[in-house]
Parts: sequence; C-alpha cells; structure tokens
Amino acid sequence: MNYNIQTIIMVPYRLLLLAAVVLHTLHCGIAAGASGPMDVEYSWVFVDYTFPSPQHRESAVKSGRFIPENCVILDVDVFQDMSEQTLYYGATGSTPNSLTKTRVFLTIPRIKPGNPASIAEIVPGNRPNSVLLAPYPNWKANVVSEDKLNCDDTIVSVFRTKIDILGRFWIVDVGTLDQFEITARSVCPPKILIFDLKNGDKLIKMYKFPPSQVKELSLFTNIEVDIRDPKGRNTFAYIADTTAYKLVVYDFKNDDSWVVDQAYFYPYPNKAHFKINGVNFDLMDGVIGLALDPIIKNNRKLFFHSFASTRESWVYTSTLQNKSLFENGLIDGSGRFFVSSEVREVQSSVEVMTNNGVLIYASMDNRLVCWNSQDPFTANKIYTVYESDEDFQFPSGMKLVNDKVWAVSCQLQNHFTTIATDRQSVKYRVLVGRVDELIKGTGCDKRSAAIPKGSQNSFAFNNNKLVVGNRRSVTSSNRQY
Ligand SMILES: *[C@@H]1O[C@H](CO)[C@@H](O)[C@H](O)[C@H]1NC(C)=O
Repeated sequence: MNYNIQTIIMVPYRLLLLAAVVLHTLHCGIAAGASGPMDVEYSWVFVDYTFPSPQHRESAVKSGRFIPENCVILDVDVFQDMSEQTLYYGATGSTPNSLTKTRVFLTIPRIKPGNPASIAEIVPGNRPNSVLLAPYPNWKANVVSEDKLNCDDTIVSVFRTKIDILGRFWIVDVGTLDQFEITARSVCPPKILIFDLKNGDKLIKMYKFPPSQVKELSLFTNIEVDIRDPKGRNTFAYIADTTAYKLVVYDFKNDDSWVVDQAYFYPYPNKAHFKINGVNFDLMDGVIGLALDPIIKNNRKLFFHSFASTRESWVYTSTLQNKSLFENGLIDGSGRFFVSSEVREVQSSVEVMTNNGVLIYASMDNRLVCWNSQDPFTANKIYTVYESDEDFQFPSGMKLVNDKVWAVSCQLQNHFTTIATDRQSVKYRVLVGRVDELIKGTGCDKRSAAIPKGSQNSFAFNNNKLVVGNRRSVTSSNRQY
C-alpha cells in the first residue's frame, strides 16, 4: 500500500547508511559515534576468502568451486581473550579495549554449490568492507572432495556454532551439501567438533552422532551449551534438529547423546508462511531458537521455539539431561514441556537470554525484540528494541558476548526464490549492540529487581495445548486453531 512511498524515501537514506557503514568500519569498530542501538560492524556485498594466491582464486571460480553469490553468512560468534587484560589491568577496573583480543567467527553453510569453506574467521583490518574470511581451522579441513571424503578430517557444512564461556568453540557440522537445491545430499554423519580457543585452537573433541539419532531429513542447525562446573567437564549441549523436529542432547562428560522426541519441537502449519521485504516463502521448519536462562537451585530452563511458530516454549534442563526418560521415543510431555498460551506478532528465528533472564529474539519482520521471562509471554510485555528494513533483513544468527548482542542478517529470503542475488548491494551484515542500551526504557529492564526463586509460577505457560501420544502432527485446543 504505502510500499511505493517507502521505496522513494529509501534511496537517499540507504546511501547515507552505506556511507556510515564504511566510515564506521574504518574506525576499526570502536564504539565511538554509535548511531543506534545496533551498529553495523561488518558488511559484505559478496563473501570472499583468503585464497593462497590470486591464481588459486581464479581457478576456484573457473571450476565452480567458488561461486560468490552462493555463499551466505548465517551465524556469528565472538571470542574475547581476556587473559592479557586481566594480567595487566585486573585490579584497576577500567580496561582499555585494545588489550582484548577479539576474534570473530562466521558460518557459511553449504546450502548451494560453490562454497569453498563453511566456517571462517574474519581477517581483521584487511579492507574497509567485505572483509576477507579465513577458513577455520584451516583450508584443508574445509575441502570437501566427495570422491575421497574422510569425514573425520572434513568440515562439510556448518549452520551455527557456540563459543562457551571457557573458550571452547562448539561447531555442529550437519554433514549435508547443497541443502537448498534439489541435489541436497548427506555425505557425512553430523558431528560436533570442539576447539579450544584458549589453547592454540587444539581440537578437544570430535563426536559423530550415531545413525539411530539421525533421520534422513535431519538438519542440526543450532546449538546451546550448558556448563555445570567451573572446569566444564560436566557440560551438556542441546542441538536443534530443525527438519526432523527433535532436540539432541550431548553429554560431554560421558561422551554420549540421546534424542528428545517431542511434539513441542514441531512447526505449526498455519505459521509456515513468511513474507520478508516483499518476498514470500513457505517453510515448515521446527525447533530453531534456543536460549538458556540463569541457573537457579542447580537447574535452569531451556527456552526454545520452532521457526514456523509464534509461540515460545521451555523445558527444565534436568528433564533433558535424564536420558532414561527418552529411551522409548516420544513421551507425553505435559507437565514437563511448556508452551506459551499467547503468541508473538510474527515468527522468530534465533534468540539469546541475558543473565537477568531477558530473552532477546530476532523477529522475522526485521526487528529485534525483548521479553523479560519474569513476565507472562503476552503482547504487552514484548518490546521492540531495534528495527531496520534495510540492515536487519532476515536475522539468522545471534550471540550474547559479555554485555553485547552480536547478530547476523543475511537476506536469506532471496535464496528461497529465483531472485537474482548478484546485485552490488550489501547483503550480509554483522551488527553489534549493547544489551543495556537496547533494553533501556523498556519493560524488559528490571535490573534492580532480583530474580525470584522458582519463578516458574509467574510464567503464563500452558502445558496442555499440545496433544501428544502418537506421531500425528501437532494439534492444539487453543482457540487460535
Ligand atoms: C529420570 O526420570 C525417571 C522417570 O521419570 C525418574 O524415575 C528418575 O528419577 C529420573 N532421574 C533423575 C536423575 O532425575
């Protein structure tokens, strides 16, 4: 309706924004001159990599091993090595940024052919924008030659990652190629790789999920890590199987995993339609967003939601960690799994939660939104903290790193269609914003109020909206359906 008016206004505004991006990046990303609650820290027209030489790059392009328009940045993660800083400034409080070594990692899942590396690290300072990506941990691990594939030494395709507070880099390799094409195929079992960023990027662990836990249509798109002791031995990872509608629990100490089969991880058919910046698509994706709340009395909740859904759910991690509960497949989740009785405005992809229990989630209408988990999940308790139709199109990755939210927006809607993606405009962005500035003045900000013990009663969640018991899809007694 007023779409035309918007388009006319956008042209000069966009030019202004692009100029701001370039200037900002030249400033090496130091927070001076912040223009809003989320600043574009990095942006790309096309992804490019640190090929060993221009000849290597040229031959990769010629052979189709590198097709820049097919490489989509999906997730970001950040490691800040505080050790030096602690050493020199530990006692003084104020700590100059320059002593903190910041490493920024990105995932570039192999959703289409022509992607030379699926996980990479930003090479700092090499150019003002479209910065080069260095394959992680190296080029060799990212080479997939299907005729002689060694699944133990190869990273096939990564959707999302998690760096835990102990500096362990958890990478979930989905093991499939060309996910968005009719040629989609699984070439290796999905696996977790854990690298030690505090110890020369040493590989701590490689865990292949057993075949019984992987369905033909499985896609392990997200991971949350739950550390329960200071040394990190007692650690669980929760992995979202977005397309088989399951959660997989990995027990680090016992090097074991099990599948949680539960209707709460399913999509809602009437929420499978998306519209982003005028592009329509349908996606029946299940569980994708994952976020852990603070530990209270040695227990915590995992919040989660499906992509084709407008509800938020949660389960106590003590339930997920009880392997014996899930040994016989789908269980009756009522009383253990919870789903909000009310809905958010539109679907959400990824989410994070602060130590104060504030959920920050990406809304699929180009917004970033907060909700304080002490409040009921109702429309009047959900607040927009940032929105940008230009910079925040299809947010696909989000992390909380110290006091900042890091997010990726990737315009993925243009990859579900045949819309040409070779425009010379910025397509991928890494945005950064301070949590306190984002939630300031909203009802999410209750920092003075202590989190009440056993706060589950304040939660307007309803456990009998989902009927479980056989493998038919999700049904609901809610009036909305
Ligand atoms: C796991 O669940 C079973 C079945 O409900 C229960 O009997 C057992 O006590 C639980 N184990 C733990 C450690 O909570």
